[in-house]
Amino acid sequence: MGPELRLALRHASDSRHRRGGQERHETIDLGLRYLGLGLPVAVPADDQGRLLPAELDRLLSEGSVPSLVCLQPGNLHSGAFDPFEAAIEVARQHGAWVHGDGAFGLWAAAVPELAHLTCGMALADSGGTDAHKTLNVPYDCGIAVVRDTNALRNAMGLHTSYLIHDAEGPGDPFQKVPELSRRGRGVPVWAAIRSLGRNGVAAQVLGLADAAAGIGSRLAAVEGIEVLNDGDYTQVSLAFGDDATTRAVTARVIEDGKVWMSGSRWKGRDVLRVSVSNWSTNADDVGTAVEAVRSAFAAVRGAV
Ligand SMILES: Cc1ncc(COP(=O)(O)O)c(C=O)c1O
Repeated sequence: MGPELRLALRHASDSRHRRGGQERHETIDLGLRYLGLGLPVAVPADDQGRLLPAELDRLLSEGSVPSLVCLQPGNLHSGAFDPFEAAIEVARQHGAWVHGDGAFGLWAAAVPELAHLTCGMALADSGGTDAHKTLNVPYDCGIAVVRDTNALRNAMGLHTSYLIHDAEGPGDPFQKVPELSRRGRGVPVWAAIRSLGRNGVAAQVLGLADAAAGIGSRLAAVEGIEVLNDGDYTQVSLAFGDDATTRAVTARVIEDGKVWMSGSRWKGRDVLRVSVSNWSTNADDVGTAVEAVRSAFAAVRGAV
């Protein structure tokens, strides 16, 4: 191992240059592990899981090397969006690269009624989202958006003498992604967007958020059920008193099989987590979901 590589590894093991909200998705850590960059520094968040810009500022002030800040549009328990405008202003002052992990939340940007959530998001250096989530195309259609074309191509691109290169047009796919050979993931994504159109995509995303709001508000009205999140977007986190009861209700909902919701843990509590993501979810489905949770809770209470 030469001296340059040792230096690179020493920097790589210095976790001060990677920041992510306390409630970042685990795949951020996974990505850093793949890259050999170690673990990120968690930036404290508020009660909905939104990163606190003042804390980001404090932590970035402690670092002396280039930083990567990962913001999150769409917390998977609360649906909350990190405050992009304020956080990006802080990140810029420290020369950091800002990425938005918008697996499902980035789609809110398509909806005029939800513009307040994504305000400032477009200022990020890069962002990622999944068309296989909110857009409902088949797995696995991840999308990366990178502001600086050269940064993307310098990182991902390659030139070989045996391949035909697109000198004039938008560039070859293999200049923008890690793989050289890949199937046409863009085709189903293009087809879905083409058939829905701008308004169709907006209506689909807004429909998911409205359904989540309906489920949250109707269950909040049931005595003994707590909705733990503010309900800005497509997620609802429910608790039923103590953790044991929440786990029992979760098991009952799953066993009954009328709807699928998963158990999770958030803010030190067990929760029943609702994530509305299917395009076909309608008012009847909202009613079915509410009734499934309500009756599971009644059954668990009755059994005590
Ligand atoms: C916020 C967030 N980031 C990243 C991911 C990972 O995405 P994928 O399952 O497409 O790898 C998810 C998936 O649930 C997510 O919700």
